[in-house]
Amino acid sequence: MKAKITVLPGDGIGVEVTREAVACLETIAGRFGHEFHYEERLIGGIAVDQTGSPLPAETLATCLASDAVLLGAVGGPQYDSLPPKLKPETGLLGLRAGLGVYANLRPAFLHDSLIDASPLKADIVRGTDLLIVRELAGGAYFGQPREITEERGLNTMAYTAPEVERVARVAFEIARGRRKKLSSIDKANVLESSQLWRKVVTRLAAEYPDVTLEHGYVDSCAMALVTRPTSFDVIVTENLFGDILSDEASVLTGSLGMLPSASLGGEVELYEPVHGSAPDIAGKGIANPLGAIASVAMLLRHTCQLENEANLLEEAIRRTLEAGYGTPDLKSQPRQLSTTELGAHIRSLLTQ
Ligand code: IPM
Ligand code: MN
Repeated sequence: MKAKITVLPGDGIGVEVTREAVACLETIAGRFGHEFHYEERLIGGIAVDQTGSPLPAETLATCLASDAVLLGAVGGPQYDSLPPKLKPETGLLGLRAGLGVYANLRPAFLHDSLIDASPLKADIVRGTDLLIVRELAGGAYFGQPREITEERGLNTMAYTAPEVERVARVAFEIARGRRKKLSSIDKANVLESSQLWRKVVTRLAAEYPDVTLEHGYVDSCAMALVTRPTSFDVIVTENLFGDILSDEASVLTGSLGMLPSASLGGEVELYEPVHGSAPDIAGKGIANPLGAIASVAMLLRHTCQLENEANLLEEAIRRTLEAGYGTPDLKSQPRQLSTTELGAHIRSLLTQ
């Protein structure tokens, strides 16, 4: 198959990890006779430095003309004092909005070989395999009005019924293909936007009688993620709650550096590792490329519908971890490699 992919390395370790991910994609393309065409564009802090905008119009146009977007990370301490419009994060939010993606899939899967890398006790965390569907286009991230003055900062958490329904539908469908359990997480004891959320999800459940639906509050869910992570299958939640819970869930699996994400539902799908730009280790060659590489596996599966190739890549990750390889964030791995060495090892397994 042929596909046009826009690559947005962004800031910090985004550059190093997307390089390895694209190289893996190329190895797969070579082996199976696919043709992927790449266009690299600017986003985030580096885009501010070079063009004065965190999301140059040309970047968004290129993304919209492609089949998928692969993003590294945005942000860094040198940009913290910029006004909101120029912040690297504003570029990423603009990209999500511009592509129209509203369902952000964040799987948190614990490889058996990494049980000792998890901050939780082995008995509690063994078997963790959950997927967070984070609403990505609404909530406090995008609600109006919003403003900041010297005296007041204002954000609005708002949802409409169609916004809730479309993301809940994605979550029900995914749950149907997994262990058929959906946890809808809100704060309906306090927030009106959550009361609507709960009502809409409950109504939609009638169309999915094969899926067991439970509702939970976000504070209690945060606790349950560390006390009984294996009780979750699919979690669906609003934007800000999903941002917070997905960092928590990801680290249960050994390292934030390992987890991929896919943002679906819009004109063009967006793939990015869940980790950020990690400025403290940027440029040192020690960043974990597995989150970006696993994001490419999601790209192969969701955008290209190449399930076999996606499985092959995920299998290569599994075997690499099982053989004890890892980057320094995975302290329990006895065979420590650099970013490029780990990428090269994965690729060597892809051609076997
Ligand atoms: C994430 C990040 C972003 C978010 C930031 C960088 C805007 O934390 O993808 O989780 O808050 O969504
Ligand atoms: Mn986040």
